Amino acid sequence: MPQPAKPRAPKTRTAFDLESYVARSCREVDRALGRFLPSERTKPATIHKAMRYSLFAGGKRMRPALCLAAAEACGGSWEDAMAMACAVECIHTYSLIHDDLPAMDNDDFRRGKPTNHKVFGEGVAVLAGDALLTQAFEIVAQGRTSRRYPAETLVMEVARASGSLQLIAGQVADLEGEGKKLPLAELRYIHERKTSALLCCSVRLGGMSAQCSPAQLEALTQFGYNVGLAFQIIDDILDVTQTSETLGKTAGKDTAAQKATYPSLLGLEKSRKEATRLTDLAFKALGQFKGKATALEALASYLLKRDR
Ligand code: IPE
Ligand code: IPE
Ligand code: MG
Ligand code: MG
Ligand code: MG
Repeated sequence: MPQPAKPRAPKTRTAFDLESYVARSCREVDRALGRFLPSERTKPATIHKAMRYSLFAGGKRMRPALCLAAAEACGGSWEDAMAMACAVECIHTYSLIHDDLPAMDNDDFRRGKPTNHKVFGEGVAVLAGDALLTQAFEIVAQGRTSRRYPAETLVMEVARASGSLQLIAGQVADLEGEGKKLPLAELRYIHERKTSALLCCSVRLGGMSAQCSPAQLEALTQFGYNVGLAFQIIDDILDVTQTSETLGKTAGKDTAAQKATYPSLLGLEKSRKEATRLTDLAFKALGQFKGKATALEALASYLLKRDR
């Protein structure tokens, strides 16, 4: 006779604790970055101080977190993904230092502190950006490689995302778009390149460090692309809706500089809807990972709801 099923304890789905996940990933990324970069005392001290000043100024470290979470989703470890996580944060920080220069967005505050050029002067700020970009490649070259993803593949991945067809292309189009009412397709072109490319690269590199399958890489690409686009729309929205204190950078700058942004083109409501739609597309891409993408999922929903 079949035995009656034993009563089971009710399944409690513990909510994913994103706050401690991000805190832990920040700690480990900071430690690794500290080791990869020359110390502040290394000659010429000025440049190493300037590099570290912006790198450790208190960024959200979302690209490294996404990179580590992507590795996890593919069954890999933080340890194997750490070099990639550090490399993308170096590229991101370099792009911010240059983005803030008087010749570009001319910003005085970043990550809650005076911008790099305000502290070190424009010459050193340009060089600190250059040095961080170069440092990223040195770090990638020390990263975990495999037969499927050899060093040349990883280097090519970073070079493409940050080069003149992607991140730089976006920054050029962003500058050239000032004062113009661009068609939505052109604004999308800017966002794809200046922001989404590096975000997408971050999760792809995480996957590669875990020797992900081609199907997993494709899913990460879809995820990163859509989260990246949503990220920049939210950044545009926060520029309008948040205070400088919360953002750690001067709010309202996009309107003042007549930047082409989602809110300026579509209004806040439609911009929010579009960011939500893109985040939903990103969630869909995670089906592939069968429950291992909890951190990626939590990060994507946080990035949509964030206030800074
Ligand atoms: C700001 O990026 C620049 C954009 C690409 C929108 P973040 O919002 O990730 O800046 P930090 O790293 O937290 O300072
Ligand atoms: C920055 O975009 C994109 C890059 C640095 C590649 P924004 O100019 O909108 O970034 P914030 O608002 O200054 O952080
Ligand atoms: Mg800019
Ligand atoms: Mg800017
Ligand atoms: Mg912005």
